[in-house]
Amino acid sequence: MAKVVSVVGNRPQYVKAAPLCVALAARATVVGVDTGQHYDPELSQIFYDELGIAPPEHRLAVGSGSHAEMTARILERIEPVLIAEAPDWCVVYGDTNSTLAATLAAAKLGIPIAHVEAGLRSFDRSMPEEVNRVVTDGLSSALFCPSQTGADNLAAEGIVDGVSIVGDVMADAARLFGPIAERSTAVADLGLEPGGYALATIHRDANTRQPALGRLVAALSALDCDVVLPLHPRTAAALEREGLAFAGRVRVVPPVGYLEFTALLRGARLLLTDSGGAQKEAYFHAVPCVTLRDRTEWVETVSAGANMLVGDDAAAIAAAVSGPPAPAAWPALYGDGHAAERIASALLD
Ligand code: UD1
Ligand code: UDP
Repeated sequence: MAKVVSVVGNRPQYVKAAPLCVALAARATVVGVDTGQHYDPELSQIFYDELGIAPPEHRLAVGSGSHAEMTARILERIEPVLIAEAPDWCVVYGDTNSTLAATLAAAKLGIPIAHVEAGLRSFDRSMPEEVNRVVTDGLSSALFCPSQTGADNLAAEGIVDGVSIVGDVMADAARLFGPIAERSTAVADLGLEPGGYALATIHRDANTRQPALGRLVAALSALDCDVVLPLHPRTAAALEREGLAFAGRVRVVPPVGYLEFTALLRGARLLLTDSGGAQKEAYFHAVPCVTLRDRTEWVETVSAGANMLVGDDAAAIAAAVSGPPAPAAWPALYGDGHAAERIASALLD
């Protein structure tokens, strides 16, 4: 039986791995590695619990640090695991430091790498994620793109071998867990009415530094509607450091699990976010998205008229909240929710 090592370590990676590991485990031995880049229970363990992910065989417990520190720690700790497990494939997800480090270690050991969410580009190398994407795609043998855009971006960089368009595993997760999230009482628990509030998330590197952070705090605090903001610990630390606080109708709550987040998203009038994954999830659940960035990798959501890029400009944010994107239809942009099966077939057939 083939053996696949699946490397996760950040909140969105649990969501991506959950459907894929089920599809892989039906036909291969799956060995889970958790780098420990995210370690607070509400950013890590809750996803294992809610999404039924098997506990990892290997926990690297690297914790937080600078980009170099984190990457170096993962490299050092994952190498002996990859040598001992000697997998047929090392599967990596998305664009985080965990993705980058696992890719580098596997490449140097001659272990073939499968990149889930390949070919995404913001064309902004000041984003740490963009650097991680470019390096990971350059070293991968199997590159699974959520849409044609990813394959086009790779072709423009001369990468064509091993590229396939399979759809998005986050669409699989939305299909599988969306109905379960319907049972969540998260909206009522916050005393909210469906359709009566905006959901927000902020954690992107540039948005947790000044001047963007202060601008976003002022812009959201001035909005004339209820805003629920499950706060990423990075942003919480940044607010504390800068002596800033959300005010007005912004309700700051701790980060919530995937099912609660999905319930809050489905009940929201719109999403305000700088997240990559949440932009897509808003689309999957037909919720208008206002993106607090100047660029996005998920360009199809913008072309479809479902997502608006507003950066950190208060007037643009207020205008988008008053008149959110309203596409005539929500055609499937990222596959049919069966990407995981296609990836499993491509790797194991
Ligand atoms: C990381 C990814 C980002 C992804 C995000 C998902 C990189 C470069 N960035 O960003 O692409 O969108 O995960 O959420 O890999 N912290 C805690 N508890 C935790 C984890 C982090 O308090 O469990 C705090 C620490 O102060 C830490 C800071 O958050 O220094 C940033 O964490 P880090 O993993 O470096 O980056 P994220 O912003 O989480
Ligand atoms: N998410 C969650 N709880 C939250 C915020 C986000 O479960 O409080 C989920 C969300 O549904 C999505 C993923 O986390 O699946 C997105 O992660 P994040 O925004 O941290 O990272 P990005 O996608 O930007 O890399």
